[in-house]
Amino acid sequence: MLSDLFDHNARWAAAMRSSDPDFFERLATLQRPEYLWIGCSDSRVPANVITGLQPGEVFVHRNIANLVHRSDLNLLSVLEFAVETLGVRHIIVCGHYGCGGVRAAMEEQRHGVVDHWLQPIRDLAETSLGTAGRRDDPDMLDRLCELSVRAQVDNLCRTPILRAAWARGHDVAVHGWIYGLADGLLRDLHCDRRQASDSEGHPAAGPGHG
Ligand code: CO
Repeated sequence: MLSDLFDHNARWAAAMRSSDPDFFERLATLQRPEYLWIGCSDSRVPANVITGLQPGEVFVHRNIANLVHRSDLNLLSVLEFAVETLGVRHIIVCGHYGCGGVRAAMEEQRHGVVDHWLQPIRDLAETSLGTAGRRDDPDMLDRLCELSVRAQVDNLCRTPILRAAWARGHDVAVHGWIYGLADGLLRDLHCDRRQASDSEGHPAAGPGHG
C-alpha cells in the first residue's frame, strides 16, 4: 500500500526530530557528504542502509550494474558536482555478487536497450576471462562482477574531472568495493586510487566471493 510509505515516513521524521530537534533544519541549509557512492540500481543494495550512513552523509548515483560510461552526462554531472562543489573525500564504486546486469550481459538472448548499456561488461569478459562455454558458471559471473568494479574504478580515474582535481591537489580517493547479497557484507577489492599515477588494473588482492 502506498499509504504505508507515507505513514512510515511520518513516524521516521518524528523519531528523527525527537532524537535531534535541529536535524532537518540543519540539513535543509547545507549538505556536506564525505562520500560519493556509485552503485547498482538493484533494490537489494541501498547505499545508506548497508553502510549505516544518515541523510546528508553520502551523495548517491546508481545505475544498472554500476557502470562508468565515459559519456554518461548523468554520472559525469554527479561526479563533477560531488568533487568540485561538495568536496567529497571518498568515491566508492560498489558492485555486488549475483548482479542481474552482469548476468544479462553474458546471456545470448536480446533484452533491449540495456544490451547497449551492458556492452562494456561483455567486452571485459571477452578480453579478461575468455567466456566460451562458461556463461552460466556462477563463479565466473562473480569474478566478472569484481573485474567490472575494477574497470569502473579505472574509467572514473581517467575522467578529466578527477584528473583535474588531483592535478590541483584535491584530496579525493577512489575505492572499489563489492557487496554480498547472500551475507549482507561489503568487501574491499583493494584497488584504491589517490592520484592519477596510482597503478591501474593491478591484480586482485581482495577476498573471494561470498
Ligand atoms: Co546489480
